[in-house]
Amino acid sequence: MNNREALNDGDKYKILFVCLGNICRSPAAEGVMKHIVRQRNVEEQFYIDSAGTYGGHAGELPDPRMRRAAARRGYLLEHRAQRFKESMFAHFDLIVAMDDNNYYDLQSMAPTVEDEQKIVRMADYCRHYTATHVPDPYYEGAEGFEHVLNLLEDACVGLLDEVLKR
Ligand code: 4NP
Repeated sequence: MNNREALNDGDKYKILFVCLGNICRSPAAEGVMKHIVRQRNVEEQFYIDSAGTYGGHAGELPDPRMRRAAARRGYLLEHRAQRFKESMFAHFDLIVAMDDNNYYDLQSMAPTVEDEQKIVRMADYCRHYTATHVPDPYYEGAEGFEHVLNLLEDACVGLLDEVLKR
């Protein structure tokens, strides 16, 4: 076993992606990021998950429109939706909000200042796209899902590079 494989859960850098329903944007972000860490051969250094501030879809697979759009790009999305819980602040190192509503909802739940500082905005890691947020595609057409995936692919690379620099 090499050093990378020897990392246990406590040594891993833990990233949680958060949106509203946890069936479109954040499970897609989770799938894209898992794909990139695998490609870069740093998979063992990370624990990656996603959650939603709204729990109405808990237990569901991602929205079929997002699953289809992601599958066309090679991402298999099998996450089951879960509601964000305050206890997740203690577990994760970085909590990545898709839009400002998610960001402020998370801030209002943070038990400590240190926990509050773990919350970041996904769009801030985009390098090619100019975006302030990852828009909710739920009530949009197919192009909304493609746009979300474009933003997520861009931001995930930026985010991973940033984290690996630390
Ligand atoms: P997500 O999209 O936050 O990207 O998962 C949504 C999914 C469901 C709903 C809203 C947004 N909803 O209102 O049920």
